[in-house]
Amino acid sequence: MSGVHATGVVKRFGDRTILDGFSLDIAPGEFVALLGASGSGKTTFLRILAGLEDHDGGTVDAPGQRTVVFQEPRLVAAKRVRDNVLLGQRPTAQHRKAASAALAEVALAGQERAWPTTLSGGEAQRVALARALVRRPDLLLLDEPFAALDALTRIRMQALVADLVHEHRPAVLLVTHDVDEAILLADRVAVLQDGVVGVEVEVPFARPRRRGVAGFGDLRRRLLAELGVEETIGAA
Ligand SMILES: Nc1ncnc2c1ncn2[C@@H]1O[C@H](COP(=O)(O)OP(=O)(O)O)[C@@H](O)[C@H]1O
Ligand SMILES: [Mg+2]
Repeated sequence: MSGVHATGVVKRFGDRTILDGFSLDIAPGEFVALLGASGSGKTTFLRILAGLEDHDGGTVDAPGQRTVVFQEPRLVAAKRVRDNVLLGQRPTAQHRKAASAALAEVALAGQERAWPTTLSGGEAQRVALARALVRRPDLLLLDEPFAALDALTRIRMQALVADLVHEHRPAVLLVTHDVDEAILLADRVAVLQDGVVGVEVEVPFARPRRRGVAGFGDLRRRLLAELGVEETIGAA
């Protein structure tokens, strides 16, 4: 379990260079948020770490035991909740027990036999989280896992992920375009700009975190400025 070391990563699609000497380390147990505008290459980097995408240059070291939660839950409709959690694992008594424990951790105790189509969006995403955690990953990859949820469910899910990560202590890469989410959850925030990490900031706030804590607004404004966003809305 040696964490993530990505150095000088280059990724091209056709004649477009998406990552152009991108470097990022994540220590074991560290939570890093990767912020970037839409289309900046966040998912591409996460997919490279997951082993789902090749890269054209640089070196990438990542732990072998890694799991991914995507923006959509990606559940198999024809399989019950427990079998979705166990997907790709043999349904031994031990694995079933672990699946039930993971479902309990995401507040879905007793839902083992439910069908995915009967779940709300938030519940389905919690099943996806249980599926990622039951494998005890050394690296948990989260690709905008809250983006499709309504605002209140999103806040609950963010708190749940914070608790579960604190409990399990995998290294985490959270890809997001949501500055508040990055500040609330991560130990460190990296901003992806023009194919490289333009800025990296340690998040100085103690946990549990609140949006209103002193300094939150300043960090938020600074990161938004890096993303080219001005916060003021409405006529002067
Ligand atoms: N398989 C692919 N083939 C061609 N272009 C791609 C492919 N995957 C992503 N891209 C392009 O690479 C850029 C970065 O995409 P992505 O990593 O998904 O961005 P983000 O997750 O930051 O929104 C986008 O312009 C996207 O259209
Ligand atoms: Mg993406």
